[in-house]
Amino acid sequence: MPSSRPASPIRRRLLKGAGLGLIFAGSALAWRSYRNGVFAGAGGPAFASWREFPPRQPVGMRPIVQAAVLAANPHNTQPWGFDVTSDYIDVYADHGRALGPIDPFLRELFIGLGCAIENMVIAATAFGLAPQVVVAPGPLAAPPAGERYGLVARILLGLGEVGTPPLLAAIARRHTNRGPYDPGRALPLATVTAWSRLDEDLDAAVVLVTSAAERARLGHVVLSATRAFVADADLVDASHRWLRTDWGAVQAYRDGLTIDGLGLSFPVTTAAMLLPAPSVEQANHAWLEATEQVHLATAAALGAITVADPYDRAQTIAAGRLWQRIHLSATLEGIALQPLNQPVEMVDRERALGRGDTAVRAIANVLDLGGRRPTLIFRAGYPLRAARPSPRRDVEDVILPRRSL
Ligand SMILES: Cc1cc2nc3c(=O)[nH]c(=O)nc-3n(C[C@H](O)[C@H](O)[C@H](O)COP(=O)(O)O)c2cc1C
Repeated sequence: MPSSRPASPIRRRLLKGAGLGLIFAGSALAWRSYRNGVFAGAGGPAFASWREFPPRQPVGMRPIVQAAVLAANPHNTQPWGFDVTSDYIDVYADHGRALGPIDPFLRELFIGLGCAIENMVIAATAFGLAPQVVVAPGPLAAPPAGERYGLVARILLGLGEVGTPPLLAAIARRHTNRGPYDPGRALPLATVTAWSRLDEDLDAAVVLVTSAAERARLGHVVLSATRAFVADADLVDASHRWLRTDWGAVQAYRDGLTIDGLGLSFPVTTAAMLLPAPSVEQANHAWLEATEQVHLATAAALGAITVADPYDRAQTIAAGRLWQRIHLSATLEGIALQPLNQPVEMVDRERALGRGDTAVRAIANVLDLGGRRPTLIFRAGYPLRAARPSPRRDVEDVILPRRSL
C-alpha cells in the first residue's frame, strides 16, 4: 500500500538521487552488456560463417574455402591462406599467425591445416569434385624468418560425382566444448570402435582411454603440464595474445579465444563479460581450476591422436584430418570433444629449449603407444551445456593472392 505520508524535501531528493543512480547504473550495465555482446549470442559478422554453411546456392570454389574456415585450429589463430584455381587449391601456412613458443615447430599449426583440409575434402566431395590431397613432404621446423606464407599442400580437384558425405552436416555444428560433460555416461563401445576405423586412409591413429584408473593417470599428466605451462611466462604471454575479452575485439579480429567459448554457465559468462578483463594470474588460476575440476573431472574418456613421427609434415596433416573427422562424427552423435594438449606442448617446449625429455617420458609412462607418439590429447563425453561458436574471418580474408572465386 502506498504511504500517505508525503516525502520530506530531503527524502524526495534522496529518492530522486537513488532513482537517478539506479537509472545510471542500469544504463551503464546495459551499455556494457551491449558493448561486450552479452545478449548478442553468436551474432554479428564474426559468426556469419557458421550461419552461412553449407550455402544454399554454391558459387564456384567458394563453398570449399567456406568449409576450411570452419575447421578446428590451435587457439583459433586460423593460420591458413588459400590460393584457389578451378583445378586445385593450394593450402598455405600463415606464419604470421603462429603461436610462437607454444608451437615452436608449427606442429599444432599443421594439425589445424589438416583439419581445414579435411573439411575441404568433405565439401569438395559434396559439390561434385574428386579431391586428392598432396602434402609437401619433409620435417616440421620453425617458420623461416621473414616468410609470411609457406606452401603446405595442394588439393587437386578432379571432376567426380555429387555425393552426400554424412559429415558435411556437422561442419557448421562442430564446436570445441570446454564445459562440463556427464561424468556418469560412458561412450558407447560402437562409437569407440567406429572412431578407431576412421584412420583407414590416414597415416595417423586414435587411442582412447576409458577406464577410471587410466584416465586418472593421463589426467595427472595433463594437470602437471598445465601447471608447467602457467609457470612459464613466455607461454602465458603467447597464449594471452589470442584472448579476446571485449566484444569489439571479437568482431574486429574475428579470431582468438573468447569468454563465450570457455563453456561457463550463462550467469558466469555474463558476469565475466561485464567485469573488467581478468589479470593474467586470475586467468591462469581459472584455467588450472577448470582443467582439474571440469575438463578432467567430468570426462567420460581421454584420448590421443598418435603418429609415428610428430615432427613429420605429412603425418601431422594426417593427424589434423583425423581429429577433424572424429570431431565431426562425434558432433553427429551428440558427443562433445575438447583438446587438452598441454602435455604435448610441453614436449615441444623442452625440445625447443634443449631441456631433455621429461615431458615425453611423463606421457610414455601412462600411455602405452607401442612406439608411436601422441600429437593431440583430448577429452570426450556427453555435454551438459551446448558449446558456443568461435569467431571466424571471412573467406575473402584468407584467399591468397586475392582472386575472384
Ligand atoms: C592442434 C590443436 C590444439 C588445441 N589445443 C587445445 C587445448 O589445449 N585446449 C582447448 O581448450 N582447445 C584446444 N584446441 C581447440 C581450439 O582452441 C579450437 O579448435 C579453436 O579455438 C576454434 O574453435 P572451434 O573448435 O570451436 O571451432 C586445439 C585445437 C587444435 C587444432
